[in-house]
Amino acid sequence: MLSSEIPDIPLIDQAALRLLDGGLVAFPTETVYGLGADAENPTAIRRIYEAKQRPAGHPLIVHLPPGADLSWWVGTVPPAAQALVEAFWPGPLTLILPRADHIPPAVSGGQPTIGLRCPSHPVAQALLTRFAALKPQGQGGVAAPSANKFGHVSPTHAAHVRSEFPELDDSELMVLDGGASTVGIESTIVDVSDRAGKPAILRPGHVRPEQIAEVLGVMPDWGNKASPQVSGSLKAHYAPRTPLRLAPTEQLPALIDRLLLQYDQSRIAALVFRPPGADEDPDSLPGLSGRIRRGSVDYYLCAHNADDYARQLYGVLRDLDDKGYATLVVERPPNTPSWQAVTDRLGRAAAAFEA
Ligand code: TXA
Ligand code: MG
Repeated sequence: MLSSEIPDIPLIDQAALRLLDGGLVAFPTETVYGLGADAENPTAIRRIYEAKQRPAGHPLIVHLPPGADLSWWVGTVPPAAQALVEAFWPGPLTLILPRADHIPPAVSGGQPTIGLRCPSHPVAQALLTRFAALKPQGQGGVAAPSANKFGHVSPTHAAHVRSEFPELDDSELMVLDGGASTVGIESTIVDVSDRAGKPAILRPGHVRPEQIAEVLGVMPDWGNKASPQVSGSLKAHYAPRTPLRLAPTEQLPALIDRLLLQYDQSRIAALVFRPPGADEDPDSLPGLSGRIRRGSVDYYLCAHNADDYARQLYGVLRDLDDKGYATLVVERPPNTPSWQAVTDRLGRAAAAFEA
């Protein structure tokens, strides 16, 4: 375990007390950093919406410590949910379930359902465990969307969180540092709230549909008309500030030529699997840290493995944002199941810049 992943107990205690007090605490998870508040405190929930500038009505995911009693949150737990919990928790899977009557609706944006997830990051687990222990009945959950402004790239480092909320000082937002998020993109969301219906994936992620099908014996559907309020289901989301274009390999050269004209030879960044026309051994080329300059275009080589790509993606988008390019061009990943979640995020990032 990296030193940053080892919970600092006095800090965790302080953070748990902040949450109990209605304050905001950003914390690391294996997917992305979350902006946390007491899930059962509507005033604290309102602070999350204000900080994120998130439209009301977008439900939040409630994070639970390992071994939490789900029935506190959902009443009766359907067998499908129990099976998914046993297979994938702690881990990057969020379950949408009917919300128990005594849980304030604010956390769900007023919807009758609730999103639940148990993260695997040790710092998150320590915080969640401590927080629940402080609650009168030993049951507590931390509502946490990704710790970024609405629509922007999710944070995968503590420093990203700080840069998202320069207006909040330490007394308004405590940030726990747990190193880099290892998954790097948000959790898979599966809706198992409809007992009669099939499970439905609302957002692809590290846990893939086939893995869910293996546990449930049925392939989940995509999307769910009953849950329109998923920001991950908005066409435009997860976007950097610099305009991003996504193009299949064969269309890259023409797109870059067109953009060079459009931006009058300003610098362009291209995130590609192979540099154009390169016969070099890819291993001898610089990775993301380096770049290959061809005229006005800087080519950055991305990971060939979907898990590595996902881990690096948001950090790379932030770095490229900082470098001040006129536009970013991203080579579309292969159309295979393992790339589905990454391609989903890239597609939504690109959609933010489509007319
Ligand atoms: O990996 C993750 O899920 C991260 C980390 C921090 O856990 N969290 C995250 O939260 O991505 P957020 O709010 O950025 O995205 C959560 C998504 C939203 O699109 C929200 O609409 C959906 O989950 N969601 C939450 N509760 C829901 C519900 N009851 N019904 C439908 N969608 C729900
Ligand atoms: Mg988000």
